[in-house]
Amino acid sequence: MATALAKSIDLRSLDGIEVGSRLVEPGQLRLSELISALSVALDLTEGQPAGHAARSCIIGMKIAELLGLPQNQLSDLYYALLLKDLGCSSNAAKMCYLFGADERQIKHDLKSIDWTRMQASVSFSWAHVAPEASPFQKILKVAALFATGPEGARKLVETRCERGAQIARDLGFSESTALAIRSLDEHWNGQGQPDRLKGEEIPLLARILGIAQTVEVFYHLGGVRKVHEIVSERSGTWFDPQLSQIVGKLCLDTAFWEQVETRNALELAIAWEVPDQIYLVDDILMDKICYAFASVVDAKSPWTFNHSNVVAELSRDLAQILGFSDEMQRDLYRAGLLHDLGKLGVSNAILDKPGKPTDEEFAAIRKHPDYSEKILLNIPRFCQLADVAAAHHERMDGKGYHRRLVTEELPLHYRILAVADVYDALTAKRPYRDAMPIEKVLSIMDKDAGTAFAPEVVDALHHWIDRQNPQTRVTQQLEAIDQLLGNL
Ligand SMILES: [Fe+2]
Ligand SMILES: [Fe+2]
Repeated sequence: MATALAKSIDLRSLDGIEVGSRLVEPGQLRLSELISALSVALDLTEGQPAGHAARSCIIGMKIAELLGLPQNQLSDLYYALLLKDLGCSSNAAKMCYLFGADERQIKHDLKSIDWTRMQASVSFSWAHVAPEASPFQKILKVAALFATGPEGARKLVETRCERGAQIARDLGFSESTALAIRSLDEHWNGQGQPDRLKGEEIPLLARILGIAQTVEVFYHLGGVRKVHEIVSERSGTWFDPQLSQIVGKLCLDTAFWEQVETRNALELAIAWEVPDQIYLVDDILMDKICYAFASVVDAKSPWTFNHSNVVAELSRDLAQILGFSDEMQRDLYRAGLLHDLGKLGVSNAILDKPGKPTDEEFAAIRKHPDYSEKILLNIPRFCQLADVAAAHHERMDGKGYHRRLVTEELPLHYRILAVADVYDALTAKRPYRDAMPIEKVLSIMDKDAGTAFAPEVVDALHHWIDRQNPQTRVTQQLEAIDQLLGNL
């Protein structure tokens, strides 16, 4: 990493320490604090309970300790464990389309079956495709699913793994971290994905990621007994036998499992940061990480291509036009990048629906600012940013969501994101309508100034449009839709 290394601080001993609130220097943010908090957004996409990645990290680091993994590989492993699902959103839309169902449920349930066995695979597909459809329609859907063949399944995994590895590289993590993410789903017997690597061809860090995430899932489902049963069963097929043996020993360590069970997962994960490799987050790295997570959000649905990035840049520009400080402009840029993090917790069956959402579906959509806020509040010093991000669907007349705040509760800088968000949404194509021309968008927003939007922010938007002369971004968006969904 390009950031400065801090002095070595041993936080591994958990007794009585204030993990999570203890910064290297006052005001400095540790990379482990930022990444562990944001890993919860990846858990949402995978349909896993919050803290899944953090607990996988704790388990993986403990396995590495028992294995005696060399010191110089520990930090690479640590961040690979936290970021193992970085590519998770990139196959969400396609998975939802292929199954005709909530892809978060499918991703969640897939983690608890042995999908390499044909019978398990067929039963799983039958149970999960198009849950609302008639038996005849289900048969057609299962047939279409299996018609994509092993290559179709391989491509789904490859898209996810390669995208995750690339984001890790873009952020400046090491190649061994990126390769561990890329090979997360390879199996010891060569039956894994995407490259069917076998035995020691699979990077050791990837083997640790694979077993750690499975242990976490099965611990959640049935405790240590279930972990022991599954790891014994899959030793030599899914897992490296040596690592399976280590997990067998770990199953006897009741103190370890008690910590996993009772301690805050994010705090525990931070405590496992490698003591002599503590990285600090400076402004440049912070922007890169916010941008990376924005790209994870935007990759979830082809209809939101580049949305977070556009909202971030527009919010920063509007803040500048309105005379806010450089610091506030930067905060609004970051809030714009992260405002829809919570959408990772909404199924593509709802986000990509070619029609009006039902009341139940709309209730699910309305939760996403709350999810964004909860994730961001776990990052030290992000309280204001979390509040701003969480208010992006509020309206001045109190008819917004999720808190139904009113004018007096919405300072001007809170109202900037709402204008940027709606402007970008209306100028982009949606599954249920075409993109609107800029003139039409402005007339709608002018009409709602004073009820939905702050009039001074809408004025700033006019000013920005005069200055930028922007075009609608439909062509770019349509290309992204083709690319993400492939030739279906
Ligand atoms: Fe939103
Ligand atoms: Fe948005």
